[in-house]
Amino acid sequence: MRTQFTSLPGGTWLLGDLTVARFGYGAMQLAGPGVMGPPADHDNALAVLREVIDLGITHIDTSNAYGPRVTNQLIREALHPYPESLHIVTKVGATRDQHGGWPPARQPEDLRRSIHENLDTLGLEVLDLVNLRLGNAAGPQPGSLTEPFETLVELQKQGLIRHLGVSNVTPEQVAEARSIAPIVCVQNLYNLAYRNDDGVIDMLAEASIAYVPFFPLGGFSPLQSSVLSTVAGRLDATPMSVALAWLLQRSPNILLIPGTSSTAHLRENVAGAGLSLSDEDLAELDKIGPA
Ligand SMILES: NC(=O)c1ccc[n+]([C@@H]2O[C@H](COP(=O)([O-])OP(=O)(O)OC[C@H]3O[C@@H](n4cnc5c(N)ncnc54)[C@H](OP(=O)(O)O)[C@@H]3O)[C@@H](O)[C@H]2O)c1
Repeated sequence: MRTQFTSLPGGTWLLGDLTVARFGYGAMQLAGPGVMGPPADHDNALAVLREVIDLGITHIDTSNAYGPRVTNQLIREALHPYPESLHIVTKVGATRDQHGGWPPARQPEDLRRSIHENLDTLGLEVLDLVNLRLGNAAGPQPGSLTEPFETLVELQKQGLIRHLGVSNVTPEQVAEARSIAPIVCVQNLYNLAYRNDDGVIDMLAEASIAYVPFFPLGGFSPLQSSVLSTVAGRLDATPMSVALAWLLQRSPNILLIPGTSSTAHLRENVAGAGLSLSDEDLAELDKIGPA
């Protein structure tokens, strides 16, 4: 029997009717280089996923585009049949080309196929939460999301999806989605050094909608800052722990999905994110990424 931690930093949040620990896990880093192909060490990837569950994490973020199919298949191999408490969140709206690019796949037939592929690779009959991912690698792009979002609403009505969210979106697109159907989360780029969404976070908090920052540790170029290192040194903590603790303290509707391919980093991040940042620490950290 695996040891279960009873509490994770940040407590819990309700995604619609699904209770999740605010400290989750992003599976993207488990695929091969450039998020293409299998991991260098298959057994290590399975071990990371099993450690996620052992630590009490109940929210895993993935996509069939990671690998493609690789992270979904690893999640299934490591964890199926899934614990009842686990909620796997996936995203649709982009596919992969042979160069590792992420071309959009947002036509109704692309989205229907992608939902069925996610169900198949994850070994599920219903997806707990699906994010419609828009924009491109440069970030959110303006434009209507009505057609693709209505397609997902239709699939939700068919019973294939429990809850909907949107990702890589502008504030206008968040409002447009909410005018069509309820959403339970927005997943956008945000971290200590990149704070474009401060207004969106506060607006969503008032509406009890989760904000799930991707690249919470800086993504492919992990955060590096002398201010962050100084604050971490003073607290006898790692810079990554401080970056995660800062997000948990930033707003109660922020859910963490930091990625790692290392069980040691995973444990370190969970252990460290519970540290309490003082007003002085926060003021100093504010110098890194002014709104
Ligand atoms: N919606 C979207 O468009 C979108 C886009 C990108 C990502 N995402 C989601 O967001 C999740 C998080 O993003 P991410 O994983 O790309 O970036 P991230 O969480 O910001 O950072 C991951 C990087 O940080 C490193 N790291 C983690 N813990 C560390 C530690 N304690 N010490 C040193 N380095 C550490 C990892 O390396 P190691 O592997 O060596 O630990 C990895 O290189 C993804 O897994 C994915 O699910 C969504």
